[in-house]
Amino acid sequence: MGDMGRGIVAVEPGKRRIKVGVAGFGNVGRAFVELLVERRELLDSRYGIDVSVSFVADSKGVLARREGLPWSLLALSLKVPRGGVSGLEGGSPGMSVEEAIAATDIDVLVDVTPSNYSRPDPQLKWYRLVLGSGGAVVTADKAPLATRCDSLLTASWRPRLFYKATVMAGTPLIDMLRWGFSGRIVERVTGILNGTTNYVLGLAEEGLGFEEAIRDAQRRGYAEPDPSSDLEGLDLAAKAAIISCTLGSPTTLWSVERRSVVNEEAFERAREAFSRGRRVKYVAVVEVGKGSFVDLVEVSKNSVLFNVSGAMNAVVIRSSEAEEVTVMGPGAGRKATAAALLSDLVLAAREVS
Ligand SMILES: NC(=O)c1ccc[n+]([C@@H]2O[C@H](COP(=O)([O-])OP(=O)(O)OC[C@H]3O[C@@H](n4cnc5c(N)ncnc54)[C@H](OP(=O)(O)O)[C@@H]3O)[C@@H](O)[C@H]2O)c1
Repeated sequence: MGDMGRGIVAVEPGKRRIKVGVAGFGNVGRAFVELLVERRELLDSRYGIDVSVSFVADSKGVLARREGLPWSLLALSLKVPRGGVSGLEGGSPGMSVEEAIAATDIDVLVDVTPSNYSRPDPQLKWYRLVLGSGGAVVTADKAPLATRCDSLLTASWRPRLFYKATVMAGTPLIDMLRWGFSGRIVERVTGILNGTTNYVLGLAEEGLGFEEAIRDAQRRGYAEPDPSSDLEGLDLAAKAAIISCTLGSPTTLWSVERRSVVNEEAFERAREAFSRGRRVKYVAVVEVGKGSFVDLVEVSKNSVLFNVSGAMNAVVIRSSEAEEVTVMGPGAGRKATAAALLSDLVLAAREVS
């Protein structure tokens, strides 16, 4: 890391230079770099942040320059096929993110690698390296927090770990829970937080069969080629765990009770409920300090969740002091997620100066 206040050099009074490393160069990683290229002047003029990218990495290697990659090279990197970034001039095929962190003096690591819940160790190691030396981490990857928030959200690391892209990426829910509810007692958060399952349950109401609905969601880019993590509630459980951690009740996705899954039977239930003027929603419920679960619940027209349709997300937050607060907005999507990461980068820049 740098020798002047963690490598951040005051370029001119009120300005700071931030060196970023990007781990993962797929859908979201590329959308983030695109947005950074487009908004870097805005970051400078509005926030006084002079940003540079020291490395971008995919599963095959790294493209790095300690002094920062030229923006023209970054623009070129956006055009190479997946897994090809280290094939560009000056790239290092076979180099790992861990090695890239050691070789550059980044201030902020942006983690946009796949969420691997059964093997989050490499990412945890990256976070420890960066946070342990005073840097910040901005992440869209749910796995490290959903599995090990107890070791990451410590008093000294918590202020430098930013993760609003992990839950309801297009809507700043995490900011609201982290800061907006400071000092208040949140008792329960109930949310439609998985666009894929909400979308397909809507198709069930229209009479589509389960397989047909999944294919439709895949065609539209809502569902992954392997949608099991969404349909079996793993994605919802990870988000429930992250919300619980944010509200001061550390847990893991493995302790979130998954009471039901979205399958043929759930489709039958959704159709039958719809015929009675009700809807079935696949929700995550966090009862702070008590436990969390994922379940199919039936809601009536009086529920705010009734009209949350398609890939939209919404949560109802119940605190001990006031009426319920509802937050509704877009969840995932490469551009929305990239924008959440950029917003977190602005927040991170303040913490590493
Ligand atoms: N897509 C969304 O709308 C969305 C929304 C919220 C959160 N997220 C989260 O954001 C993350 C990225 O999603 P995505 O859609 O961009 O995934 P993606 O398209 O599969 O991209 C993942 C990238 O990570 C790279 N990668 C894999 N293992 C790596 C390693 N060990 N070291 C360095 N790079 C590695 C891959 O390399 P190759 O290119 O070589 O395969 C690829 O470039 C995931 O954790 C996801 O859950 C996504």
